[in-house]
Amino acid sequence: MKTRTLGNLRVPAIGFGAMVLSPGVYGEVDDARAETALKAALDAGGTHVDTSDAYGVDGHNERLVGRAIKGRRDEVVVATKFGLAIPEGEPSRAQPVGFAFRELRVNADPRLVRGYAERSLRNLDTDVIDLYYVHYPDPGVPIEETVGAMAELVRDGLIKHIGLSNVTAAQLRAAHAVHPVTAVQNEWSMWRPVDPGLLAAARELGVGIVAWSPLGTGFLTGTVQALGEGDFRHNAPRFSAENLAGNNDRYAPIRTLAAHLGITPAQLALAWLLHQDEHVVTIPGSRTPAHIEENLAAADLTLHPDTLARLDEALAKFEVSGGTLL
Ligand SMILES: NC(=O)c1ccc[n+]([C@@H]2O[C@H](COP(=O)([O-])OP(=O)(O)OC[C@H]3O[C@@H](n4cnc5c(N)ncnc54)[C@H](OP(=O)(O)O)[C@@H]3O)[C@@H](O)[C@H]2O)c1
Repeated sequence: MKTRTLGNLRVPAIGFGAMVLSPGVYGEVDDARAETALKAALDAGGTHVDTSDAYGVDGHNERLVGRAIKGRRDEVVVATKFGLAIPEGEPSRAQPVGFAFRELRVNADPRLVRGYAERSLRNLDTDVIDLYYVHYPDPGVPIEETVGAMAELVRDGLIKHIGLSNVTAAQLRAAHAVHPVTAVQNEWSMWRPVDPGLLAAARELGVGIVAWSPLGTGFLTGTVQALGEGDFRHNAPRFSAENLAGNNDRYAPIRTLAAHLGITPAQLALAWLLHQDEHVVTIPGSRTPAHIEENLAAADLTLHPDTLARLDEALAKFEVSGGTLL
């Protein structure tokens, strides 16, 4: 597996996003299936594993990851996040996030940061978190204050690197002035552009980018025709029955291009991201070992500049129905 650097942290170009492995996100999934998927990811080199204290109920996702890394901790870069799983009795602030989840409640008060990290360390059953993100900036707390508390965790050895998720360029700059930031994790895929100002700031500051939902929550694989029960995408207008059919039709030229290259649309979507910048990595999620192996193999693809130009032309014409999507 090819590696890249986020700041001074080396990770595989394609890692694994574990969110899909907790029930209630993409529908039902049991722990046996989740554990098989995590093992497939680690065995195939997807050893940058991304989780959060907010995925699943009561740290479920972190505990899954903790079991998967038992006996192979040194092979894995463990990334997790805090700020959305708020202790009972603590206040929270609304963070509007788009259609699928509408609004999230955040508390990234520096007073709570050490407790969040200690809880994640227990869930993960490890003594250090490699990359620790604030999941969303807290609208009620200057990001400098949140990052100040994270810097104390670095100093005390609870975490190795600081990450920020879902931030603006201004927030990245403000945070980086308090303590070097290793990575920014924002949504970025062929149907969801990244903010060019954020990309420019990350480049200038030497901060890596981790692209979340790189497969457009599955759409860009070209395989989503209908949604099952309990799937969060029922709340996303891009996946409503009428919009999904039209979006699939208009996505056809990109599926055709993938077929012409002898790769899958999922692989094209991941390879396209890796060609946007040398400090971009990505973390697709899947419950299915065959999909995981297919996705990780995309790290080795080189797209010819002509192919990238054709792809960008096709993407410019790809009109997505359903507005913004989380
Ligand atoms: N920081 C944040 O706020 C934030 C927000 C969202 C996500 N994330 C991170 O990003 C990671 C990935 O995002 P995501 O899971 O939302 O979306 P994603 O990786 O874009 O897509 C996942 C979906 O694609 C399907 N899939 C994956 N590979 C496939 C393949 N080769 N062929 C066909 N279908 C395939 C999966 O279904 P199967 O299980 O059937 O393969 C699943 O439904 C998360 O795990 C999380 O770590 C972060």
